[in-house]
Amino acid sequence: MIRIGVLASGRGSNFQSIIDGIKEGDIEGEIAILVTDKADAGAIERAEKNGIPNKVVLRKNFESREHMDREIRRILGEKQVDLVVLAGYMRIISPELLEHYTNKIINIHPALLPSFPGTSGTKDAFEYGVKVSGCTVHFVDGGMDTGPVIEQTCIRIDDCKTPEEVAAKILPFEHATMRKVVANFSKGEYIVEGRRVRYEGKKASAD
Ligand code: GRF
Repeated sequence: MIRIGVLASGRGSNFQSIIDGIKEGDIEGEIAILVTDKADAGAIERAEKNGIPNKVVLRKNFESREHMDREIRRILGEKQVDLVVLAGYMRIISPELLEHYTNKIINIHPALLPSFPGTSGTKDAFEYGVKVSGCTVHFVDGGMDTGPVIEQTCIRIDDCKTPEEVAAKILPFEHATMRKVVANFSKGEYIVEGRRVRYEGKKASAD
């Protein structure tokens, strides 16, 4: 059973996919805490509905990003979190938190990295005119969507007429990809070798 901490800024549909994965027995774990940096994040309502502890940590209450992340680290530590999931969390993580959770913080991005990083990935992919895009779950490092890739799903987007259509088409695949990766985390180990990531499931015991 892993203890998961989720950081979210918005509606929380990726957060929901983890809740569902646990409920349906796919993910062997528990969401120990939801932290949001927005008091009106939709994710909060989802947490309340599912009896998940949650905290709002607002940037304006701290003198720096580092101070804010120190508080988040304290909250995650208190809850003995093993895995930190950024589910639509729109902030760069400071070294303070990264060093404490090396290769234990993952993010979902709505494009095939390293193409179209940043906060407007779906719009940038649409405007570039790519025929195929998708989503990426990756480890978080100090850069913007630059950490080692854990899993990717490709989706044709050449039938989409607006950036919003691209985002809507990709979203359900984000949920499935995120859920699969968190389920894997709960049943084994992702091993990072340089930029490459491979998965080792738990060996079945002999008896
Ligand atoms: C997702 O598209 C995610 O990839 C991006 O922000 C969006 C968050 O959606 N980083 P939600 O809050 O999980 O519904």
